[in-house]
Amino acid sequence: MAIDIDDGMFGGFGGRYVPETLMAALTELNEVWDAVREDAGFRTELRRHQREFVGRPTPVYPAERLTAHHGGATIHLKREDLCHTGAHKLNNALGQVVLARRMGKRRIIAETGAGQHGVATATVCARFGLPCVVYMGAEDMRRQEVNVRRMRMLGAHVHGVASGTATLKDATSEAIRDWVTNVADTHYIIGSAVGPAPYPRMVRDLQRVIGDEAREQYLDAEGRLPDAVVACVGGGSNAIGMFTAFVPDAEVALVGVEAAGEGLATGRHAAGAGAGTPGVLHGSRSLILQDSGGRVLPTHSVAAGLDYPGVGPEHAMLAEEGRATYVAVEDHRALDAFRRCTALEGIIPALETSHALAYAGDLAERLGPGGRVLVCFSGRGDKDLHTVENERQAEEEGGAMDQEPVAALAGGAR
Ligand SMILES: Cc1ncc(COP(=O)(O)O)c(C=O)c1O
Repeated sequence: MAIDIDDGMFGGFGGRYVPETLMAALTELNEVWDAVREDAGFRTELRRHQREFVGRPTPVYPAERLTAHHGGATIHLKREDLCHTGAHKLNNALGQVVLARRMGKRRIIAETGAGQHGVATATVCARFGLPCVVYMGAEDMRRQEVNVRRMRMLGAHVHGVASGTATLKDATSEAIRDWVTNVADTHYIIGSAVGPAPYPRMVRDLQRVIGDEAREQYLDAEGRLPDAVVACVGGGSNAIGMFTAFVPDAEVALVGVEAAGEGLATGRHAAGAGAGTPGVLHGSRSLILQDSGGRVLPTHSVAAGLDYPGVGPEHAMLAEEGRATYVAVEDHRALDAFRRCTALEGIIPALETSHALAYAGDLAERLGPGGRVLVCFSGRGDKDLHTVENERQAEEEGGAMDQEPVAALAGGAR
């Protein structure tokens, strides 16, 4: 029997909580990943695709007008929105499809929330001529309709999931079910740093290009490291990709920003790291939102990609160790940050990214002039225009309703 070199644990988190049918596939994936991650041929091939297909390296951009608006620390953006397909998700999908081809897997499945991972997977499947099925919650299909159209255009079959809250958790459960049935010829490209080992570290290894590039670019441009690195956290792949390069730099604060939805006190949020407790979800032990009986709680966020009740096990470890801090931003503050960044910088952020921008603005004000904040700008917001417009309409109608009592006082009859 092969020796398991990596036990897949991050402190007390991680592991492999899966049905027996998947154990052999995960053991094989673990061994293959250990072999290829240092393999010169694999790395050269990946680097070539990153350069020619993804458009790497992405720039680090000084957001001068956002900086001036907040009037404090300088704000820089690591522009993952400039990756082909518009988000960091392609870094992971590309690496895993190259790996799947090496493993002789001919069918690809994926789950998606915001649709960015689904689009990235459909894109690499088109590029390499592989059939692709993407599982997506029915609610997410509604709010991220643009990405559903993109996936279909790219030749993927989008399988709607109506169970549960019809969001990312339910899509992930359905994708795991498919994998259990079709594991012989199918590779499951998980879209975040979650799931059973070796997925969390494999996704981190494929996303760490973000932080490796950003650290070097920031040092080149600024001659020193930032005081804080800020990234939004759904499952945690863009954040862990950004943080990894900075973990040894004790003077750099690492801040993960989760979705506080309608407010942590309302229970309608998705702050797994900040408000969760240890438990098992989708094959690994991590911090998850659950009730006292261990039932996973429903989540809410205006950003589909953050609307997930757990967080990757490495984040759970970083939180426990105190090396990274996890905060949460409400929907309305993310929407404000979306509008601010669009108006001031001419860059439309994804609603997920807008959570990181909202917190980065607060932090810049707190740190004051002389401080430095680097944000992982995880993706662009074309997919969210519809949601933002609907929210504005709702706010306007809400505003009109607020005025009704005033009108009533003034005019009498209603
Ligand atoms: C643009 C963007 N940012 C962030 C996320 C959150 O995912 P993760 O925490 O894995 O980076 C998503 C998820 O779909 C996304 O589309």
